[in-house]
Amino acid sequence: MKSIMVVVVVVVVTLPDPVGNTFTIMSNVSGDSFNRSWSEYRDGFKAKRGSNWIGLDKLHRLTNDGHDYQLIIVLSAEGATSYASCNEFKVDSEKEDYRVHCLSLPGYVEVLHNGSTFSTYDQGSGQEQAASFGFGWWFGANQKPFNATNMVLTKLKKKSSK
Ligand SMILES: *[C@@H]1O[C@H](CO)[C@@H](O)[C@H](O)[C@H]1NC(C)=O
Ligand SMILES: *[C@@H]1O[C@H](CO)[C@@H](O)[C@H](O)[C@H]1NC(C)=O
Ligand SMILES: *[C@@H]1O[C@H](CO)[C@@H](O)[C@H](O)[C@H]1NC(C)=O
Ligand SMILES: *[C@@H]1O[C@H](CO)[C@@H](O)[C@H](O)[C@H]1NC(C)=O
Repeated sequence: MKSIMVVVVVVVVTLPDPVGNTFTIMSNVSGDSFNRSWSEYRDGFKAKRGSNWIGLDKLHRLTNDGHDYQLIIVLSAEGATSYASCNEFKVDSEKEDYRVHCLSLPGYVEVLHNGSTFSTYDQGSGQEQAASFGFGWWFGANQKPFNATNMVLTKLKKKSSK
């Protein structure tokens, strides 16, 4: 009987955020409040029961690193789950009120409004909407009510330079 030789090659490469990586942007556990201030949405927060928000500054840095990002929002509508996605998702800096960009929004325009700026109850052009909805968001002019349970971002290929 021949002996079997096993060669194990271990290659360690430092790649902090490889393509395909996913990032939890928010997760909403029932009972936690998302009615938070501008600075909390900017810096990120974690709530008692486990809800969290990544922070708009981090979201801006992440989505401007030269890669395409796809955002999936998990929606809960009267107990039923639905999904909304946004391709080539990108968020501008705080100076631009974290304006949101989507190349395409399949079936999804009512939740995320392309080109909207972010608002919380204490800052932004949609302060009244934020106060009445009870959370910060990129509100559109005729924003319909919705409940998000999760938002997941996936890092995709490098953008082709044009
Ligand atoms: C959102 O959730 C609340 C309960 O927290 C519910 O009253 C409301 O109907 C839901 N809205 C939608 C659009 O599903
Ligand atoms: C969002 O706006 C940008 C530029 O204004 C545009 O190129 C893009 O097609 C728009 N996306 C949707 C889903 O309309
Ligand atoms: C959110 O908080 C603001 C400031 O405290 C308050 O005015 C508003 O009524 C709250 N909204 C909800 C839905 O609880
Ligand atoms: C979080 O979930 C609760 C319960 O479904 C809902 O009332 C609330 O609107 C959600 N928050 C966000 C930011 O979507």
